[in-house]
Amino acid sequence: MNKRDFLRIMGGGVVVAATSGCDIIRPLPNKAIAPWSAAGTVYEDPRKNALSYAILCPNPHNRQPWQVDLSVANEVALYIDPEKQLPHTDPFSRQITIGLGCFLELMSLAAATQGWAVSVTPFPEGYDTSNLLDTRPVAIAKFTRDDTLEPDALFDHVMERRSVKEPYDTEKTVANATLDAIARSGGHGLTIEASNDDSSVQTLRQLTREALSLEIDTPRTYKESVDLFRIGKSEVEANPDGIDFSGRFFEIMGQLGIFTRESALDSTSTSFKQGKESVVSVTDTAMAHLWVVSPANTRLDQLKAGRDWMRIHLAATREGVAMQPLSQALQEYPEMGDHYKQVHELLAPSGGTVQMLARLGYADTVSPSPRWSLESVLARGGKPA
Ligand SMILES: Cc1cc2nc3c(=O)[nH]c(=O)nc-3n(C[C@H](O)[C@H](O)[C@H](O)COP(=O)(O)O)c2cc1C
Repeated sequence: MNKRDFLRIMGGGVVVAATSGCDIIRPLPNKAIAPWSAAGTVYEDPRKNALSYAILCPNPHNRQPWQVDLSVANEVALYIDPEKQLPHTDPFSRQITIGLGCFLELMSLAAATQGWAVSVTPFPEGYDTSNLLDTRPVAIAKFTRDDTLEPDALFDHVMERRSVKEPYDTEKTVANATLDAIARSGGHGLTIEASNDDSSVQTLRQLTREALSLEIDTPRTYKESVDLFRIGKSEVEANPDGIDFSGRFFEIMGQLGIFTRESALDSTSTSFKQGKESVVSVTDTAMAHLWVVSPANTRLDQLKAGRDWMRIHLAATREGVAMQPLSQALQEYPEMGDHYKQVHELLAPSGGTVQMLARLGYADTVSPSPRWSLESVLARGGKPA
């Protein structure tokens, strides 16, 4: 959700505060963003050092669905945290698995900067793609010392990377050379394409707008997001995941009972309709789109899509380009069927699965999103029960 625009659901009176005064009303919950400054500073164990970066990776709805087991020397066993799935919008854990791929890539990039090579064995006990992820390991990552290792320059952009959900500058095009540089940054064998072509941009603006609108109009999928709203500093710090609405403004609106999860669900109100339009309208500010297509849709493809997505997002950050995934049309719940078919006909005409689709453009930088600390991730325990 575009938080700034979402404020419009509160009515005209607060629009001014929402759009012009955002910075002065936005002290972020420090505890929730502390993992961004803790990364790489306090851990001697190279695995913990790498993990302190991995937890900063992009992931769906910022659920941070990882559990790690460090009980075997020089190994990280990665598991899903079963509490952190998104069964309505991600019924087969495809997107959650992509997020875990981002995690593995960032962990590997971070380890390389310290002279540790990471070799990943994905799903060593097998997998099932027709259900939510189960409790078998997602990957075993083995750390081996290698003093000849050259760090990947993409790692330099980890701290500035953000999923930018604000409107983009519609006066500023994204040049072909820039798109090419971003699309070339993968490395796991998937097809990565991007386009700033006017007719492609118009078509995808409309498709992503309709799909986002449909997700909000489908009560169970919209509620899945609303249940993850964290409103105000104490909620964000108590649960530094999900969709954060932090800053003094939200603090007040939450305390006054004007902006609550219940009020956000009242789809009959005029303010809801105006708010929804504001949220979906960011799709109209896309200045280019980028998509990732895998040949099949196995868990291995999904992990690779995540590993590539991590690299693509770091490359976009390097180029100063803002990106926001717009995943709604790619989601596999029945109500989205027509849009799913349409997006595949457009972007994967020869077959395959569109794993990621994002809008690109230029926008001011935004604050980092909240994270659970590495200590709390480690405290979740390794293998899920
Ligand atoms: C597989 C996947 C799907 C995502 N889909 C969306 C989406 O549809 N809309 C959106 O605004 N962000 C989407 N995101 C971005 C996440 O919301 C974002 O990574 C998360 O909130 C953490 O924020 P950060 O990337 O700025 O650290 C997606 C990310 C991943 C990895």
